[in-house]
Amino acid sequence: MVGQNRHIKPTPNASKHMISKIISLQGRGTSLILETEGNALPIWRYFGAKLSADPDFASWQDTTPRASFSLDKNQPFRTIPLFGNGWFNTPAFTAHRHGRDWAHEISECRVQTSNKEISIVSLDKVAQIEFIQTIRLEPEFDVYAFQTTVKNLGSETLNVDRLMAGSIPVQSHFNRVNSFTGRHNNEFIPVSDGITRSGWQRINRRGLTSHDCPPYARVMSPTTGGFSGPVMAAHLAWSGNHEQLIEWCDYGFYIWQSGAWYAPGEIRLATGEQIKSPEWLVSFSENGENGVAQNLINHMRSLSPLWTSGQMSPRPVHLNTWEGLYFDHNEQDLMELASSAADLGVERFIVDDGWFAGRHDDTSSLGDWWADADKYPDGLAPLANHVKSLGMEFGLWVEPEMVNPKSRLFEKHPQWALQLPQRTPLESRNQLVLDMTNRDVQNYLFEKIESLLTNLPIDYLKWDHNRDLTQAGSDGFAVYTDQINASYALFQTIRDAYPNVEIEACAGGGGRIDAGILRLTHRVWASDCIDAVSRKRIQDGFLEYLPPEIMGTHIGASPAHSTGRSQNMDFRAAMAIIGHFGIELDPRKIPEPEKEKIKSWVNLYKNIRNITHTGQVWRGNVGDHVAWQVLGNKDKFYAFIFRMQPTEQRFPPYVSLPMVDLRTQYFVERVDPQKGQFDGFTGKEFLSLDSQGKKFSGDVLCQVGIRLPFMKAERCIVLKFSAISE
Ligand code: DGJ
Repeated sequence: MVGQNRHIKPTPNASKHMISKIISLQGRGTSLILETEGNALPIWRYFGAKLSADPDFASWQDTTPRASFSLDKNQPFRTIPLFGNGWFNTPAFTAHRHGRDWAHEISECRVQTSNKEISIVSLDKVAQIEFIQTIRLEPEFDVYAFQTTVKNLGSETLNVDRLMAGSIPVQSHFNRVNSFTGRHNNEFIPVSDGITRSGWQRINRRGLTSHDCPPYARVMSPTTGGFSGPVMAAHLAWSGNHEQLIEWCDYGFYIWQSGAWYAPGEIRLATGEQIKSPEWLVSFSENGENGVAQNLINHMRSLSPLWTSGQMSPRPVHLNTWEGLYFDHNEQDLMELASSAADLGVERFIVDDGWFAGRHDDTSSLGDWWADADKYPDGLAPLANHVKSLGMEFGLWVEPEMVNPKSRLFEKHPQWALQLPQRTPLESRNQLVLDMTNRDVQNYLFEKIESLLTNLPIDYLKWDHNRDLTQAGSDGFAVYTDQINASYALFQTIRDAYPNVEIEACAGGGGRIDAGILRLTHRVWASDCIDAVSRKRIQDGFLEYLPPEIMGTHIGASPAHSTGRSQNMDFRAAMAIIGHFGIELDPRKIPEPEKEKIKSWVNLYKNIRNITHTGQVWRGNVGDHVAWQVLGNKDKFYAFIFRMQPTEQRFPPYVSLPMVDLRTQYFVERVDPQKGQFDGFTGKEFLSLDSQGKKFSGDVLCQVGIRLPFMKAERCIVLKFSAISE
């Protein structure tokens, strides 16, 4: 976008109000450059790799040649492209008042800048609409947060149909967009599309973040690789309906937009009312896929002021009862399970679904948030106290936003469910969704959760949401957006009242994973699929933009309940200790040697989590079905080397690590509990590394690598790298 034109024409109608000025935000490796233009909205001039100087032509008009059959004064790409004033691409905002006031044009604009923020307050005097836009830079992460607020200053209701958080230019050498699709039990399935003149669009209308359309994408050029080349990646901090759009713009670049998606008639602003878009978090890196992942992961870590002590505590080892027991609860069993969990080194015991009044399967009782009297004759206190006496934290599963028609709550308050007049409610998993915008619903839920949190020593809530929203209606109007904001409000009220209680967000596994919910919760359940082979791909997707310490990862049973595939315990455990580790099986049902294995992996996890959960994440493939994941810092890190399929080569490949410091010496040792065990012949180098450790120079590790031993399929080796100070 930054270019020069030899034939410079004066700006038509230039007046003192139209004087142009270049303003910019400068990140560590990025520049964002706009041009202010009198009373109009700023014009986009550049967004990408850091420029050494601002463009030397202050005015966009001076650098843009005239084209035939075009407007006398073309409408440039402004920070909020608006409809009805000569802009022909998709506008970032559309609205009307009973069919009028549909064309928008800014008549006044105030721009304020600092090193970290550009704030733009503008007014359409004719349509009586105010726009407040902010672009906030976190320079150390090269992450830009875009947010737009619209206020109705008119005397009649303003119907807002579309409001994007931001619209950004994407240079034309970007030719691929990667995003994710998925389903329950199979999240983060990669989708790769070409960026073409016909455009790219993903819309989620499921009312919740969704499995099949998470609000994330990244764009890449033909030269982008794992560690080099330009990448732009972005995610929306929002747990509801949303849209992502990339389309060609005739000025010679693409435009990428993202924001919440609104149902027809959903947003009606009365006089003085406003609507704020969610934040769209955009990052650019020239260091390839790993570079942009570092930016987003580290930014995500900096976001949440969640930890009461100001710092995340080491992520405790979980045991979650779901796949071990499902709905089959009784106090004695749960007590025994807790004791055997403690014996394995578990630090937090979570009682999943099946504990509350009448809940014997998934057909009933959501809403009746008190202990089932048959299963827990004295309530949950004896179990919770037993768990605490074993030195573990106590966690409990809830699904506050839901109600089963077969429940005491629904019998009493059928009108509390989201519904539409004269329409049959659509059930999913036999449940309906409560109208969270209803004050009485909020009060009821807070009261029930408060009673649990006050009367029991609860340290942790697993907060589930097991269906999409369909007829999200209240008084006949669509309330998808209000529903999410009201849910956020309940999370916030509980967080304020019980700041020490940690919360996990879950939605049939990974249906509510986004930067919006992650401002209120401490971890997310990545997937109900605990098959370690499937998990590899699911976790790779997650780690493209989110940190490992908030990714719930468990050892499941073999065969895996979700896929029927079987994997050995070491492989299952290695895959799980990468994230926030837990166990989701009944340890009483597995043989003693398996338990011993779990204990060794629990110990390894406890030894390494301070490094793996606070450092960088690098990922790569070496071919022949071998992939690696490095967690830690340049001077101390752990490499997880996975063989996913049998080798197709005569000799196993080398693993080279591009992110090491070339001039540093490293001591490398094998640390996984399978140390000393091999699947076949192995070279002397690996043998000595395995037995007593071995010194490598950084450049050898980077350029040559370490020759792997033969590994059978579905195996993982964990190596520790420590920089040697000479
Ligand atoms: C869906 C979750 O993903 C599972 O982990 C479990 O909590 C079930 N809900 C319980 O109904």
